[in-house]
Amino acid sequence: EPASSLRHLVSISHLSTPEFKSLVNRAEYHKKLIKSGEQITSQPLQGKTIALLFTKRSTRTRVSTEGAAVYFGAHPMFLGKDDIQLGVNESLHDTTKIISSMTSCIFARVNQHSDIQELCKYSSVPIVNALCDTYHPLQAICDLLTIKETFHDNLENLKLAWIGDANNVINDLSIAALRMGINVAIATPQGVEIADHIRAKAAEVSKETGAKIELTHDPKVAATGANILVTDTFVSMGEESQKAEKLAKFKGFQINSELGALAAPNWKFMHCLPRHKEEVSDDVFYGDHSIVFPEGENRLYAAIATVEAFVVNKGKFVI
Ligand code: CP
Ligand code: NVA
Repeated sequence: EPASSLRHLVSISHLSTPEFKSLVNRAEYHKKLIKSGEQITSQPLQGKTIALLFTKRSTRTRVSTEGAAVYFGAHPMFLGKDDIQLGVNESLHDTTKIISSMTSCIFARVNQHSDIQELCKYSSVPIVNALCDTYHPLQAICDLLTIKETFHDNLENLKLAWIGDANNVINDLSIAALRMGINVAIATPQGVEIADHIRAKAAEVSKETGAKIELTHDPKVAATGANILVTDTFVSMGEESQKAEKLAKFKGFQINSELGALAAPNWKFMHCLPRHKEEVSDDVFYGDHSIVFPEGENRLYAAIATVEAFVVNKGKFVI
């Protein structure tokens, strides 16, 4: 099959609204199946290999992807940055051609978004973006599954408030929420701004679904009346050298019970993890409003839905 006809999962922005909803629905379907003690009976990827090409560390993405591969009968092959020639002795182009010639899919966690684009250009198998500096689509599928379960399909008129960095996680989460009809408010510090291409996409999706997006620099404005408060680390992987500078910018951005008091009754707290105390207090993170652990578990079902759509069904979605 020529590389150009392949469907890759690069970002939620690159999916249509029905395609995105299909991934969430299939994640929910497989979760119910697994929880009921039944497994799928056929293993359509038996004898196949799914490569995990990770140049950054991971707990959830690695465990969920390996689990999803096994669920469909495939062998997950983890290739960390110290395992292969990539970046040391061989170009990404050569590495991609070789790995894709021997596997059925590559889940890739990289620094630069341009590396994901390069992988898509040279791979003969589907590429799944397992996080880059710009996007984290697997997290967004998981998060919308978690929201759908928590709010029992009554998603319209919900308000999701992100209080944090303008990063890879919110770039996909905002588009995902808008696709599901959820209003989004994003509070970032002055000078930390959501990228223009994400604003443009959000405006387009907002027009399509009627859900609204609001950008502010005031955490209180975002949190007021919100049903879901969400954040992430203030210092993403690859930004370690800017830690002091970034933490100074995010003073006043911690999600704590004071901020939670402005939210809607029965509000929920979400976080993709790993978590640090500067972005969320212990009482919120471990408290009654928090759904972070069911959210973490849902990464498995998001990975299963992704492998099903992009590898088993080769980019054809169950709509
Ligand atoms: N949320 C998430 O992607 O976690 P990991 O970095 O542990 O994979
Ligand atoms: N924004 C974080 C997400 C980690 C899952 C990072 O890129 O490090």
